[in-house]
Amino acid sequence: MLLSDLMSHATSVPYNYIRPICDRPNLVDVETADVSIPLIDLRGIHGGGDRSRIIREIGMACRTNGFFQVKNHSIPETTIDAMLNVAKEFFRLPESERLKTYSDDTSKTTRLSTSFNVNTEKVSNWRDYLRLHCYPVEQYVNEWPSNPQNFRDVVSEYSKQVRELTLILLGAISESLGLDGDYMEKALGKQAQQMAVNYYPRCPQPELTYGLPRHKDPNAITILLQDGVSGLQVLRGGKWVAVDPIPDTLVINIGDQIQALSNDRYKSVLHRAVVNSDRERISIPTFYCPSPDAVIEPPRLLVGKEHPPIYRSFTYAEYYDKFWNQGLQSASCLDIFKTT
Ligand code: OGA
Ligand code: NI
Repeated sequence: MLLSDLMSHATSVPYNYIRPICDRPNLVDVETADVSIPLIDLRGIHGGGDRSRIIREIGMACRTNGFFQVKNHSIPETTIDAMLNVAKEFFRLPESERLKTYSDDTSKTTRLSTSFNVNTEKVSNWRDYLRLHCYPVEQYVNEWPSNPQNFRDVVSEYSKQVRELTLILLGAISESLGLDGDYMEKALGKQAQQMAVNYYPRCPQPELTYGLPRHKDPNAITILLQDGVSGLQVLRGGKWVAVDPIPDTLVINIGDQIQALSNDRYKSVLHRAVVNSDRERISIPTFYCPSPDAVIEPPRLLVGKEHPPIYRSFTYAEYYDKFWNQGLQSASCLDIFKTT
């Protein structure tokens, strides 16, 4: 059942959203910092003296934090505002209208659902989400919602812009590992791009539940657009750190596939989304993925006597299947593929 119309004005959350005491967000212990994860200015990434500095900064961020933020990312403000607005409008549609897109079948390429995977989980999460496949746009656009009326145009444009930015970032990541600029793009095969539009309604008891519990992203790299409301937290040095939104910036994180392709030099890091009692929140991650048949294994350059391969090679299809079926657990899904 969708959350949106469910008691965000009630005084308590239904029992099936309540986490056991040992698994609650402990919000008083969360650290906040002005800039909790590196903020990298991408101006100059296309050439000139700044390019090598930016690549070094990105490499450092991927090695240590697995997360960074970018400004001057070249996606126009109008595209970003339109994307956030159309997302908000979608979740304001009458429930009967939204339900036209509802499905719990995780193999569907366009679907509205709730929590994470209602087929396998015991405790629900305070989230509704719309999932869309976005690449190639032409292949999927006709299955996307057509209400709001400008939904397809706005999401097409945003998806294309995010793809361009992602390819630039993959180039920088490849170079920061000493690889050819197109290495990652090629290693991911034909590639895929999926978007989630996460809607976290106000929650009467945010200390008892999650928007999304701790997890690592199973894809290659994630580009997150968030509205002005806080909720994202990243595990750093054993502590949860809030990544509060900064206007005009996007949050980038390394997913499991780049961790595997880099033979563990770069980190896919645990993160989670918490909810709050004051304001609803929208976040829009774009998950950039290998194509299902891509074989994930590190390049020769990153394997040697001192760097034995950490994982056996696998296809992304194999990985993704395991991810959805094991549920969101603290153990990384990558552990299943370890060589020793
Ligand atoms: C995700 C995710 C964080 C957020 O959807 O994988 O980590 O802030 N979302 O919504
Ligand atoms: Ni995530």
